[in-house]
Amino acid sequence: MSDPDDDLSLPRGAALTARDAQFREDPDALYDSLRVHAPIYRDTAYGRTLLTRFDDVRSVLRHKKFGVDARKSHPDSYMRRVAATGVSGREGQTAYEPPLVLLDDPAHRRIRLLMSKAFTPHAIEAMKPRIQVITDELLATFEDESEIDFIERFAGPLPTLIIAEMLGVPSTHGADLKRWSDKILQGYDPERDVTTQRGLRESYVEMSALLKETVAARRRKPVEDLISAMIRAQEESDSLTDLEIISLCTQLLVAGNVTTTDLMGNGLHALMAHPAQMHKLQASPQLIEQAVEEILRYDCPLTETARIALDELSISGCPFSQGDTLTVSLAAANHDPAQFPQPHEFDIERGDATHLAFGSGVHVCLGAPLARLEGQICLQAFIQRFPTVRPGTESPRRRRLPFFRGFECLPVKLS
Ligand code: HEM
Repeated sequence: MSDPDDDLSLPRGAALTARDAQFREDPDALYDSLRVHAPIYRDTAYGRTLLTRFDDVRSVLRHKKFGVDARKSHPDSYMRRVAATGVSGREGQTAYEPPLVLLDDPAHRRIRLLMSKAFTPHAIEAMKPRIQVITDELLATFEDESEIDFIERFAGPLPTLIIAEMLGVPSTHGADLKRWSDKILQGYDPERDVTTQRGLRESYVEMSALLKETVAARRRKPVEDLISAMIRAQEESDSLTDLEIISLCTQLLVAGNVTTTDLMGNGLHALMAHPAQMHKLQASPQLIEQAVEEILRYDCPLTETARIALDELSISGCPFSQGDTLTVSLAAANHDPAQFPQPHEFDIERGDATHLAFGSGVHVCLGAPLARLEGQICLQAFIQRFPTVRPGTESPRRRRLPFFRGFECLPVKLS
């Protein structure tokens, strides 16, 4: 293992996150250097070890002796700093904590099994025509304009509109849901200030209150939506409680939305930066599935995730103790030349979908089929409707939040 005390030229803490301008604009250069010089790198500022090689990252994600429950990590660990809502059980009574993605077995297995009975491939496939309609309606709102912010007008609202409709949350709350999700997401910033934390807590409580009302209404009168399906989901005599359903909905709304927004934003940005690839996709729309996989690999929306050692163990000969936090870089793994030849080239015909953008192992993304479908339909529709789309007058601005890599603002010229 490499210790930064031995090599002060390697960055640590916030300098290894999107808070740092250099990292934000060009993470590949730093990841390449870490992968070669310190592939298992102890970042003392954040009390974590960062892994950047594809094989190591995949091994950790699939390893049974790594967990995700922050309560099992050392006090003041990186894990404990992120994703805490600050809502206590007593004041909240709004949703269970931690969320599915931070829950270990047996609780994780139980909730994931029940959830997958409601969030089925069939339920997602059934959304296809509605995703197309929602996309077309949104495109029509700016078809006469010459320049827009792609995130504000298209990629930002779309996933919220789609998941809200799937869940059965009234569309009148679309803007609220987006605002709350954006604030709750700030929980992933280990450097967040008191005001941000307050906004996060308030949003969490308000969103949970709306979901609570919706779940109660569906218990009284079930309809054909995802919340009713979650209420119906049954495994032997077990079923999801209201708090569990509310918590799951919050996760779908928060973690599922921004990542899908970023898939579209990062995708359009990559296509505009590689006009030959854009033209190829416009001329051969059947390449869209491969193109979305390459976008996920090339500029993946969730750049890292974390794990806690549940026991003494080792990875590539490097020992870890119980309670140690590891962060595995999905973005670095997806650019490992040992796995992907010419990893920094964007090639929509690469035809290799072994990337780790959706993770791997028991926590592998539950919403991957929906995210893929949305990415394919929405990006395709946009570049076909605006075939000459190109960078706008203003420069794009990337988000400063760790973990979630995407654009706050992506101006584009439409005609
Ligand atoms: C391009 C878009 C998306 C990306 C890149 C993405 C990425 C990921 C990744 C990497 C994980 C695993 C995290 C870990 O192992 O620690 C994950 C988990 C999860 N994702 Fe996604 N996601 C996306 C979209 C969605 C959508 C649309 C939904 C639902 C509407 C969703 C719901 C979830 C849930 C519930 C989990 C937790 C699964 C578990 O812990 O068992 N995601 N996602």
